[in-house]
Amino acid sequence: MRTFTNSRVLVIGGSSGIGLATARAAADAGACVTVAARSPDKLDAAVRALGPRALGARLDITDVHAVQDYFRACGAWDHVVVTAAATKSGTIRELDIEDAYAAMDSKFWGAYHVARACSIGPGGSLTLVSGVFSRRPSRNAVLQGAINAALEGLARGLALELAPVRVNVVSPSVTDTPLWNKLDEAARAAKYADAAARFPAGRIGQPEDIAAAILYAAANPYSTGATICVDGGDALV
Ligand SMILES: NC(=O)c1ccc[n+]([C@@H]2O[C@H](COP(=O)([O-])OP(=O)(O)OC[C@H]3O[C@@H](n4cnc5c(N)ncnc54)[C@H](OP(=O)(O)O)[C@@H]3O)[C@@H](O)[C@H]2O)c1
Repeated sequence: MRTFTNSRVLVIGGSSGIGLATARAAADAGACVTVAARSPDKLDAAVRALGPRALGARLDITDVHAVQDYFRACGAWDHVVVTAAATKSGTIRELDIEDAYAAMDSKFWGAYHVARACSIGPGGSLTLVSGVFSRRPSRNAVLQGAINAALEGLARGLALELAPVRVNVVSPSVTDTPLWNKLDEAARAAKYADAAARFPAGRIGQPEDIAAAILYAAANPYSTGATICVDGGDALV
């Protein structure tokens, strides 16, 4: 396994949830971590929480020119992780078409922009985050499943195109992050309890569970083109 000591790790989406847990795990493993996202307030809070070696960068990955300019200016990374996404969900018939396009722009085209522009050094990696709906579709979130499947296909192709840089995807299911703050407290608690009761693992995910898989994908020199499922067994039931 490669060590993270003094490696340059960029976590896009690192100001919250799975990305913040990934940045913390990488920093604890000795990496110099940069977290990138849109909101300066969330970035400042994340950088403060991560400690003196962490840096923050404002970046909107839906903006192809901003992504190109950012990577042109910042040089080569050892590991790049993309957890960034903001996607409204709903049935295909009900979801506003502009919201549907925006979801694809954010999660799929955002990752595509990063893959197209980033510079990653020898032995390095790019890790994307998809989600269980690529394998177990939800009738209420069909688009999310399609975006996740597209990301997993993108990563398998990129593992060939960008080799010897390794490209992997980590696929979570319900994980306790601020993504679920869109629900009120009672609805969120009910969702978590329902998922924990249904999943073979008997619990929902914590951001650290997913971060551990992302670090594994980044560190393991024999892992590329893989989709690593950390979903409590959700895809099985
Ligand atoms: N949590 C779950 O239950 C779950 C389950 C399955 C899959 N996933 C997937 O896991 C990934 C991470 O989710 P999470 O739960 O960690 O979400 P989160 O807590 O909402 O964090 C999302 C992060 O992405 C950033 N971001 C959003 N849009 C961006 C953009 N256009 N450019 C740059 N940064 C952007 C956000 O900051 P700003 O808003 O400030 O930019 C934030 O830092 C997502 O792809 C999500 O779909 C999550």
